[in-house]
Amino acid sequence: MTSTKNAPLDLGLLGRTAVIDEGGRLSIGGVDIESLAQQFGTPLYVYDEVELRGRCAEYRTIFAGGVAYASKAFLCGAMARIVEEEGLDLDVSTSGEFDLARAFGFPAARLVIHGNNKSAAELSAAIESGVKHIVVDSADELDRIETLVSDSSDAYPTLLIRVNPGIDAHTHEYLATGATDSKFGFSIESQDAFDIAARIIRNPALRFGGLHAHIGSQIFAPASYAAALERLVALIARIERELSQSIGELSIGGGLGVRYVVTDNPPTIDQHGQALVSNFDRLIKEHGVTSEPRLSTEPGRSIAGPAGLTLYTVGTIKDLPGIRTYVSVDGGISDNPRPALYGAEYETFVPARADSDRARVVTIAGKHCEQGDLLIRDAYVPSDLAVGDVIAVPCTGAYGHSMASNYNAMTRPAVVFVNDGKARLVVRRESLEDLLARDLCSAPDKMGLE
Ligand code: LLP
Repeated sequence: MTSTKNAPLDLGLLGRTAVIDEGGRLSIGGVDIESLAQQFGTPLYVYDEVELRGRCAEYRTIFAGGVAYASKAFLCGAMARIVEEEGLDLDVSTSGEFDLARAFGFPAARLVIHGNNKSAAELSAAIESGVKHIVVDSADELDRIETLVSDSSDAYPTLLIRVNPGIDAHTHEYLATGATDSKFGFSIESQDAFDIAARIIRNPALRFGGLHAHIGSQIFAPASYAAALERLVALIARIERELSQSIGELSIGGGLGVRYVVTDNPPTIDQHGQALVSNFDRLIKEHGVTSEPRLSTEPGRSIAGPAGLTLYTVGTIKDLPGIRTYVSVDGGISDNPRPALYGAEYETFVPARADSDRARVVTIAGKHCEQGDLLIRDAYVPSDLAVGDVIAVPCTGAYGHSMASNYNAMTRPAVVFVNDGKARLVVRRESLEDLLARDLCSAPDKMGLE
């Protein structure tokens, strides 16, 4: 494996169908990547469909039916279809994600409902459509659910409890959700988790499905999951013992980290999954749990992230002698806010010269009116990088499209899936008409748009 950043692109940062031909050109899914920029314009999100499906299958092999894809990482109709075909459930955390999933035809019975502030309307829609699980996050929410079920005699929603195990996930502060100071879930330490379980179990109008925990995101440390499982299985044992209640499921959430830059070394899906399963099995025995709960998981980033890349076109190259060289591209914080939000690191390369050494260090800047709109602070690029070149940023498949904005009235990029020698436009580029559609005081006729 390549260990220096200035070497040619490490194919390990791309999907499994990525190939560099003898001329140094990169293709993915049998499609020449630079040609996509000409065909669909830039910025452009490109996904390797085989990689997406492969990653779903890797999780399915370990967890069988116990995988819910976290739609917040990346959702569109084509992705919902893949998730459905690959036999995964779907995690949605707002009515927006719920409505999209339903509009994409995803079966309600395979939806898991999340969120730390679900409204009565959101809960009602979930209960009426017969979702698989509602993950209860607060006592206020349980009040709302109890009111809804008392108004309807034939609805028995299955509830999981979002448990906060109180552990450090060793990730960015904004991405850690399992520490004691978190807006999510019920703490084990304070007894809140046990008390809410007792309340659900005593209510005959509710079904107690089990527990759920999500300790954070972009996690590389298996020990964080092991520590969480230890506390969660102890809680399962206590619920069994003191409330005489069997536990159907423990979802350990998502969070597995991915490789954004060549020096990142996260566990593979297989290593991560096997470690979870073997720790869980051992702890179930050690704690004398008898009800055979199923361990399930909810990955987002580790399915969508490495399957996607973003293409940009270089527009300007400005050299500040002795300081740095700014290479500005036609996207930025509006298609990828992660560097600005989390200090996230990425690499870049030129798909038409993917075998070039990347000996020159530059800063890849977006085109937004903010100095903080930097996609890659220290990017290794080919020495001959020039205006007009198409560059690619790997591993943008998760939390890029889904967190994109219209800042500076930028229109959001199109999404293309590549597979089997074909490129399929699955989300078209946003247009000026889309931006104007919500503005009740616009005058598109004056621009010749009507
Ligand atoms: N389940 C729950 C309840 C979650 O809150 C999340 C992510 C997941 C599953 C999926 O986690 P993953 O496998 O993708 O790590 N915008 C941030 C990530 C925020 C994650 C929020 N919750 C980023 O761009 O890094």
